[in-house]
Amino acid sequence: MCGIAGYIGKNQASNFLLDALKRLEYRGYDSAGMAVLNGENNLNYLKSLGRINELEEKMKKIELNGCLGIAHTRWATHGHPSEANAHPHSDCDENIFVVHNGIIENYKILKEDLIKKGHLFKSDTDTEVIAHLIEEHFKGNLEEALLSALKLVEGAYALAVISKDDPEKIVVAKKSSPLVICIGKDENFIASDSSAIAGYADKVIYLDDGELGIITKDDYRIISIANNNKIQKEHCNIDSDVADLQKNGHKYFMLKEIFESPEVIKNSTRGRIIPEKGLVKLGGLEVLDQEKLRNIKRIILIACGTASFAAMVGEYMIEEYAGIPVEVELGSEFRYRKPIIDSQTAIIAVSQSGETADTLASLEEARRKGALTLGIVNVVGSTISRETEAGVYNHAGPEIAVASTKAFISQMTVFALLSVYFGRIKEMSLTMGKRITEEIEKMPCLIEEVLKNDEQIKNIAREYSKYRNFLFMGRKYNYPIAEEGALKLKEVAYHIHAEGYAGGEMKHGPIAMIDENFPCLFIIPSDSVYEKMWSNMEEVKARNGKIIAIATEGNKEIKNIADDVIYIPKTLEMLTPILSAIPLHLFSVYMGMELGCDVDKPRNLAKSVTVE
Ligand code: AGP
Repeated sequence: MCGIAGYIGKNQASNFLLDALKRLEYRGYDSAGMAVLNGENNLNYLKSLGRINELEEKMKKIELNGCLGIAHTRWATHGHPSEANAHPHSDCDENIFVVHNGIIENYKILKEDLIKKGHLFKSDTDTEVIAHLIEEHFKGNLEEALLSALKLVEGAYALAVISKDDPEKIVVAKKSSPLVICIGKDENFIASDSSAIAGYADKVIYLDDGELGIITKDDYRIISIANNNKIQKEHCNIDSDVADLQKNGHKYFMLKEIFESPEVIKNSTRGRIIPEKGLVKLGGLEVLDQEKLRNIKRIILIACGTASFAAMVGEYMIEEYAGIPVEVELGSEFRYRKPIIDSQTAIIAVSQSGETADTLASLEEARRKGALTLGIVNVVGSTISRETEAGVYNHAGPEIAVASTKAFISQMTVFALLSVYFGRIKEMSLTMGKRITEEIEKMPCLIEEVLKNDEQIKNIAREYSKYRNFLFMGRKYNYPIAEEGALKLKEVAYHIHAEGYAGGEMKHGPIAMIDENFPCLFIIPSDSVYEKMWSNMEEVKARNGKIIAIATEGNKEIKNIADDVIYIPKTLEMLTPILSAIPLHLFSVYMGMELGCDVDKPRNLAKSVTVE
């Protein structure tokens, strides 16, 4: 979703702002803009539709000089993508400029009222009302005007505001959308997330909901929006390394991130498994009352999109190996239901970004109802990681491609860890604990083996890129992988329609679609449902459907029925999804490339969905 950046200091603001916008590209956007204030008190701005390089080209012709500025990447919600709707937005006289991520829910009423008072609007956005509200309340002090404006606003926001009538500061505010302040030497920065700031300074402050920040060149102050009281904030270390934000020779971040999977598993499990004792150690859960953990009677996993498929794998793992009933709920549904929750229910929010609005809102609802709230989150310091009582970080590193791949692999790995963790607290034997942890330890090597099929998968994608419909099928542990494979193909090769189904459901409908133009991708490792999946393949073949199979190494008979076979190494049934997801991720990238799609930044998609 929208990205925000801001700079105040001794250097040209536009250098940092442009770099930050490029780093925020991964969040998804359709237009961009920047406003810079110079020493002569001129506030200049530029906006462009499309990619950041369009803005960069404009900046070569019209320089934005000055040491104070704000910038934005917009992902349209209110008002179609256009230069007029791109941020920054200004008041009538272009004295005040605002960038915003979120949604102002009552903007229509506010706008009508402001128009009656004589304000002239230049865009269709909800954001512009904020600039005019500040103008309406401005009496020489920017933070006071913003505080007054915010009293009238309903909705979600991360905001950064500058004004040439109060020129030596950036004022920021947060409610339900993320914002970080980064403290430098004689310069300070703001951004939607720390990946935009990594390398510029080491310490960040995560703004919490209801907080307003006044940032000057060499100081900052945080106050409560509710009562203006000063708030002391903790300084945290930036988690991202600048090297993590490069493509390392890969054409796309998505490819780089898939190829990072072995390292990701090492990082997600480092110091957490003790195979000789069959134990898992999760420092993030040790802060909890262990008796309370032991007494958990039910777990609800809340997630959206790809994270929800990882949660489905987690459900199967935890139920089978820890014997705790688990349900998976979509954040977007859970928040509007009347869920039955008590103090023996643990809610685990699963989220790469830790900022997904629906997951976060569900978490808050569950906490209000007395559940223990935990998180499985990748982005350190993100809102979900801070709003939960405890949790497990993925340590997958920054995920830049919009489509989630390495985080998904890490999420399933963390669920494998959790099933041993909970299992060993309950009835799992030492032998079983050892078996699983030993096998988890082998996963990085096994993934290396799968990645060797890269060239073959590229060729398969070339061959199948002429088809426009695909059915993905899996069963038991690999049913969620069928869903994930279909989602990823739709996201990244967006001219293709794909569906993911549980093998057993094929005869209940989707079989009607099968003919020679409707290829099926079967995830059929040699596991407890192998024969059942084989019958599904027979049914597809009988209708002339083409088959790509993901099967276990050594399975020769599969070549008699499948048109193409991608092999994965043998492992425990519960861990097969971690291996089978890799060829599907690669297949999506190569299909997307064949179709000329923007693989890292697919149209219409945002990396983290921070609004409803
Ligand atoms: C994944 O490829 C998607 N872009 C999307 O489904 C994503 O997984 C979902 O929005 C959840 O995001 P989160 O993990 O950051 O909460």
